[in-house]
Amino acid sequence: MLDTPNNAETLHADGKILQSFSDGVGVGVGVITFNNPDKRNAMSLEMWEGLGQALVALRDNPDVRVVVLVGAGDKAFVSGADISQFEKTRHNAAASEEYSKRSEAQRALLASYPKPTIACIRGFCLGGGMQVAMLTDIRIASDNSQFGIPAAKLGIAYGYDGLKHLVSLVGPSWARLMMYTGMRIDSAEALRIGLVDRVLPDAELWDATTEIARTISGNAPLAIKAAKITIAEVLKDESKRDMDAIKNIGTACMDSEDFREGRTAFMEKRKPQFKGK
Ligand code: COA
Repeated sequence: MLDTPNNAETLHADGKILQSFSDGVGVGVGVITFNNPDKRNAMSLEMWEGLGQALVALRDNPDVRVVVLVGAGDKAFVSGADISQFEKTRHNAAASEEYSKRSEAQRALLASYPKPTIACIRGFCLGGGMQVAMLTDIRIASDNSQFGIPAAKLGIAYGYDGLKHLVSLVGPSWARLMMYTGMRIDSAEALRIGLVDRVLPDAELWDATTEIARTISGNAPLAIKAAKITIAEVLKDESKRDMDAIKNIGTACMDSEDFREGRTAFMEKRKPQFKGK
């Protein structure tokens, strides 16, 4: 089992989404747990909405500087959308559109999240689980994980947003191979093709992930925000890039108290205390 924290915990979707913020994990580190291990953390519509609520709460908490997403139990990050709901909620194009609207709204929150996000992946990461993981900034996986988008096995069309991130991470050829076959790949292959950033032995996954989160949390928030905004703009078509947004965050950063603190702390050979302003 992952050593996820229990204090300062908020429950969403009848406890199937947990949101926590605890010094036990690290100062400034928020955690969202997909908590339906009996169903390999498959995402019901209620869980998508709970994910949205948790993301908003951690986004709006000024003490939270980075958010880690993790699956409960030792078998899955998220095994995709809850297929048992499809007969009622996703049985044709019209129903599917309504379903997509509701779940996409939550993923949009993650896509435009202003704070750094990390997916801590153990076990199955499939379909909607891949979508969530690909929307986070960084993916750390255990060596026993498996990845895939079995849409072609179910007869599901993936939309633009669903495939945009896959193509940008693994390239069009691997995206086609994965989408046409619905195949599952292991962690080593996922690492090789750029789907995940680091693979660790299962027992080291949580500590290694939270150590990265703590490092991010201790760094200057405006500098991280500048990197996040600029990298997002780099990925857009040139005609759609917001160069003013890059300039504005650059100015805010270079005029910040934190920049003064960073250079003073370096000269005084001490650890900087950043405030995000
Ligand atoms: N939706 C609904 N239920 C799911 C689910 C999903 N995406 N993934 C797993 N479950 C349920 C299973 O139906 C099973 O329920 P049961 O105990 O009532 O029979 C339980 O979770 C355990 O799954 P099981 O298949 O027995 O476990 P496993 O370890 O052998 O295999 C998976 C795990 C994830 C590989 C397999 O369950 C699977 O292929 N799931 C579907 C994945 C998928 O197609 N996702 C994309 C959806 S768009």
